[in-house]
Amino acid sequence: MIKAVRGTRDLLPPETALWNFVEKTVRDVFRAYNFHEIRTPIFEETQLFARSVGEETDIVSKEMFTWEDHARAQSEKGQSLTLRPENTAGVVRAYIEHKLEQRGLNKLYYIGPQFRRERPQKGRYRQFYQIGAEVIGPASAGSESPARDAEILELLTTLLDRLGIKNWNLELNSVGCANDRVAYNEALRKALEPVAANMCADCQRRAVTNPLRVFDCKVPADQPIIETLPRIGEFLDEPCRQHFEQVQTILKSVGVDFQINSRLVRGLDYYTRTAFEFTHGALGAQNAILGGGRYDGLSESLGGPAAPGIGFAIGEDRLVLALQESANAVQIKPDVYIAPLGAGMNSEAAKLARELRRQDLVVEMGDESFRLKKSFETATKLGARLILIVGENEIKANAFALKNLDTGKQTSVPRAELASKIQVSA
Ligand code: HAM
Repeated sequence: MIKAVRGTRDLLPPETALWNFVEKTVRDVFRAYNFHEIRTPIFEETQLFARSVGEETDIVSKEMFTWEDHARAQSEKGQSLTLRPENTAGVVRAYIEHKLEQRGLNKLYYIGPQFRRERPQKGRYRQFYQIGAEVIGPASAGSESPARDAEILELLTTLLDRLGIKNWNLELNSVGCANDRVAYNEALRKALEPVAANMCADCQRRAVTNPLRVFDCKVPADQPIIETLPRIGEFLDEPCRQHFEQVQTILKSVGVDFQINSRLVRGLDYYTRTAFEFTHGALGAQNAILGGGRYDGLSESLGGPAAPGIGFAIGEDRLVLALQESANAVQIKPDVYIAPLGAGMNSEAAKLARELRRQDLVVEMGDESFRLKKSFETATKLGARLILIVGENEIKANAFALKNLDTGKQTSVPRAELASKIQVSA
């Protein structure tokens, strides 16, 4: 038997109703903040991720699904392609390619699958879904302002509130800018020099090539060493320090709770200044429900115009898990179950179902071959509270028996009144 590939999974009803509820709620919130949807391809040139996320990150060095795509025609060249492990790089590529800077401040969001070859476990998959947003544009449009950072973070708390997710924790840090990074990397290299030999192979390499990435290390034995390393906060220049201060001031004034985590550097190279994660207690080891931050130099490093930006991505799989832990699962049930009774009644039932569905009712139908008892049982199993009987007598009278399965009460309802009657009783 052929099964779904390791790390991928089928999303089945009724869980898909929860996914739809999440996506609808999220789209409503994005609309209130004037964000617009963008969709980029699920694969891109490999170089895009190497140059943005960074060669030394776990994502690029270990986790990408990459293949050599051969030329099919002389006019086409072969190239290295990669299933997107994240969507910020693709959005910034699109920003540059379509000259979106001409539109001023862009507030874009996306919902879609991402791919990373990680070790699968609860909350960690090889195909997973992100709900993300990016605010990007020329500095003259306000893209660099700490107000953008605070707006993004406030949006996220509104979103989680709206979804009914409680007990989240916002961890905040500033990872500084290119200026600060030179001095900080130097200090890290120096601090790592005498101890690197006692660390894991990855850290020994990182200590030389990209010391900031040492903070991504999960090896327990390395943690006491990492604890002793200098923190980025001590190396922020004055503009970066002030920027971070202002983000915090606005957050406090709008009442968003946060905690400073001076070890938080995020696992992608493009971040500058504000970096954040929301964690959730119910998720166990994979407790980051979302992450994000500022990426002020990213557009330039991909050959685009200066375009400071900030964004986030929510792990939708984890969001749904958190909802399942905390909430009353959303399930869509039929408002009414139509039971056709006797030969020829399927087409009458179909006509009625069409009328009712066009009035936004959720309708399920039986079959004229079913006995009434079977229709009642099926309706109950589906969670329908109302059953509508369609037999020859009903057609003649143009009025239908509507039975409430909870109370057992049955009434005859004229065709024209059916939709409104069902709406109030369902
Ligand atoms: P990230 O932290 O790599 O950031 O991913 C964001 C979220 O995606 C994580 O917090 C987690 O909830 C979810 N996630 C990541 N990997 C997996 C996985 N294997 N299985 C399930 N969920 C996962 C980014 O991707 C950045 N592009 C976010 C961003 C946008 N920064 C600025 N703009």
